Amino acid sequence: MATTATALFHKTAETFRPSAKTLSQQYFVSPEIFAEEQEKIFSRQWVLVGHQSQLKKSGDFLLATIAGESLIVVRDQKSEIRGFYNVCRHRGTRLKDDACGHSSTIQCPYHAWTYGLDGRLLGAPHMDDVPGFDKADYSLHPVSLALWEGFIFANLAGASTSRSNRDYISLEEWFAPLAGKFSRWNLPALHSAKRFDYDVYANWKLIFENYSECYHCLGVHPELSKISPHDSAENDLTEGPFLGGFMRIASDKSLTMSGHTCALPVGDFGDKDFRFVFYYSIFPNMLLSLHPDYVMVHQLLPQSPERTLILCNWFFHPEAFEREDFKPEDAIEFWDMVNKQDWHVCELSQQGISSRAYVPGPYSARESIPAAWDREYLRHLR
Ligand code: FES
Ligand SMILES: [Fe+2]
Repeated sequence: MATTATALFHKTAETFRPSAKTLSQQYFVSPEIFAEEQEKIFSRQWVLVGHQSQLKKSGDFLLATIAGESLIVVRDQKSEIRGFYNVCRHRGTRLKDDACGHSSTIQCPYHAWTYGLDGRLLGAPHMDDVPGFDKADYSLHPVSLALWEGFIFANLAGASTSRSNRDYISLEEWFAPLAGKFSRWNLPALHSAKRFDYDVYANWKLIFENYSECYHCLGVHPELSKISPHDSAENDLTEGPFLGGFMRIASDKSLTMSGHTCALPVGDFGDKDFRFVFYYSIFPNMLLSLHPDYVMVHQLLPQSPERTLILCNWFFHPEAFEREDFKPEDAIEFWDMVNKQDWHVCELSQQGISSRAYVPGPYSARESIPAAWDREYLRHLR
């Protein structure tokens, strides 16, 4: 395998632990467990909120929601990306309600307190009349943000308002096991050509478990299985918060409707026969699918025990966009079809798991990665 000289890949069945079973029903339906996940996982981990290419210039912002908290993610005057709670320091009002946009300051719609892009309170009408009032005491509450491979991650545990600072580890430390692993895909430089938002009536963990195995591929994804053999999976990350490996792409093909490459390669793969698609899950809300000619990223936003919003972006080389051979829809249409096939079986799983008849079932040897994902999830929760 030509990916990295030192990486060791194993067939999925080689890392299987025979007694592994699926999670019990409560993990998929209980509002209490959902609340516990929001507190113990989403409020403490580095959570994907976007990509730096979405904030091109100073003043560009996007809103993100983590564990029910609305956050403003903005590129400041010094071109640094910063995060703030979307809460006015006067009477708490939500400051921004557009999903994204551009503004040179952050102004509250209620009484017009105005904050700089660095979060400092710049103007507060008539507050000079209040003895002892000092604008310096009323900056926006910051949130820890950091970049990994061009992707923006936020961590509520790192902020001054956090109740759980003891759990905080830096983004560098968290992603240390992946250092340099994806450099050849040029992730920081890529641009998204399209985003689809899917509203899926299934628990967020079912999305991860489904992503992590191709036991279902032959029956659920006939088109995908023709281009990428369903039993070709080999994994190099088989335990912990980052899991996955590669599958083969049948020669001269790409994962597109036409079967042909749809854009300039995203990276320099050095080798004309680079026919691999890499699939990695990044705990707790990112699925990273690296193709030779594009990178697909799913960002999961759990809404309730039985509902998950999924933002899916297709990223391409920045120079691909101007070329005649750029056919992003060929990849987008293909994965939109495969995504919907997946969401359908995830929704059916949610329905069956909600039945009184459901009891945990045995994982097959082809499902060692979902079993490992479950173990990692339980480590965080308990
Ligand atoms: S609540 Fe924001 S200015 Fe009053
Ligand atoms: Fe699938």
